[in-house]
Amino acid sequence: CTVWVDGQPRVACVTPVARVRGRSVTTIEGLADADDWGAAFAACGATQCGFCTPGIIMRAAALDDAKRAQPAAVEQSLLAHQCRCTGWRPVVDAIVGGPAAERVGPGDAAARRAELEGRVPQSIGGDVALGRGGFADDTAPPDAWVAVLDADGEWVVGATLHEARERSGKVQGRRTTAPLVWPVELPDGDWVRTLQTTWVEPGYLEPDASWCAPGGRPTSSHGNGGAFGGKQDGSLGEVARRLADEHGRPVRVLYTREDVVRRGPKRPPLAIGVRPDGSGVARVVRTPGIADRIALVAPELDVVEVDVIGPPTSVDLRGAGWVEAAVVLASLADTPTTEIVSPDGATARAAVADDGAISVEVECGEVLDETVLRSYCVGAAHMALGWVTSEGLAVGGDGVPHDLTMRSFGILRAMDTPAIEVAIVADDGPPVNGSDAVFAAVAAAVWRRHGTAPRWPITG
Ligand code: FES
Repeated sequence: CTVWVDGQPRVACVTPVARVRGRSVTTIEGLADADDWGAAFAACGATQCGFCTPGIIMRAAALDDAKRAQPAAVEQSLLAHQCRCTGWRPVVDAIVGGPAAERVGPGDAAARRAELEGRVPQSIGGDVALGRGGFADDTAPPDAWVAVLDADGEWVVGATLHEARERSGKVQGRRTTAPLVWPVELPDGDWVRTLQTTWVEPGYLEPDASWCAPGGRPTSSHGNGGAFGGKQDGSLGEVARRLADEHGRPVRVLYTREDVVRRGPKRPPLAIGVRPDGSGVARVVRTPGIADRIALVAPELDVVEVDVIGPPTSVDLRGAGWVEAAVVLASLADTPTTEIVSPDGATARAAVADDGAISVEVECGEVLDETVLRSYCVGAAHMALGWVTSEGLAVGGDGVPHDLTMRSFGILRAMDTPAIEVAIVADDGPPVNGSDAVFAAVAAAVWRRHGTAPRWPITG
């Protein structure tokens, strides 16, 4: 998203081409030490899907040495950026460390760990940080037609993206001041602890996309990473295939950010009340499979599914249902750290220090690759901290989300993200996903630190 205009970093997406007439534009492909930056990011675990990192590297490479050496100045410089995957700390480490001459080739074990944590196959390494990880839309032939949604939800096809957008007549949404709502009422009862959650946006950076040739097989919208279960793979592919057959030529099908927010699945909001013995009631937005997920960690909770008008929900979002239940149950234990065992069999313990620093210990079988595992765990801690404290998606009474830009979801910025220390406990068992356990343990620790306030986000 960021390029240099006459050597100064500029956000490309809001810079009209006319404004750079006669000036020099440098993209990451023209950055002399791009490969060294890619290597530095890979060595620090500062890239996962790789959607944000090309722009971040352009920003970092433009910093003078004095600024680059100070984490606070680096965090400040990242205000125009968003990374959903890495939890920022590895990114700041990579920038402070600067470009690296050394290349460490990613091995199969690292790719295996990335797939376990991200839950879909994923490329890793320095090239990914430079935007070469392979995004869903990358391989479309240049002459493919383009389809986008219009305001009525109908697909509009044009010879170019510009033409399709013009025809759709849709104006991209803006940040809203609409308040958050907690759509599920608490169950009646005499509870020792309650929790209500609201709508949150998974917030993956790469909008869903697919393309297909007539009679061909559509590409997966997962691209390089699964967005923690947030992407609805499949539906766009089917559209691409249908439109390609209809028009007799390859068609790219693209969601805008607004489409992702309106149509992409959310974790189901819920309201839980528990008694001291851990029994109680969880009322949750009706979602196929949610009762089974909650029962994985909290068989003593009665699950009541309720119908709520709102965006689609799915149990495929990171730990949907079981994490909330596990966090509430963990809050009943009287221990200095919170410990969560995930249904996958990983154990995570987390604590929050007085200065807000988060420390996590994770045990999830054979480590496979420490850098990749740590990166996912820091990312999970960042996501958990934001979920409990600041994230929310305003949804109107008609069930339609009002927050339609990345900036409006409450995702924590680099400068709001505390130190996150991850200790990995070596273990000879089979490798399992560890970051979901970290997500739950950090949510529990942060919630406890904020006095188990009855609603998330607690600043909402
Ligand atoms: Fe930053 Fe995925 S690596 S958004």
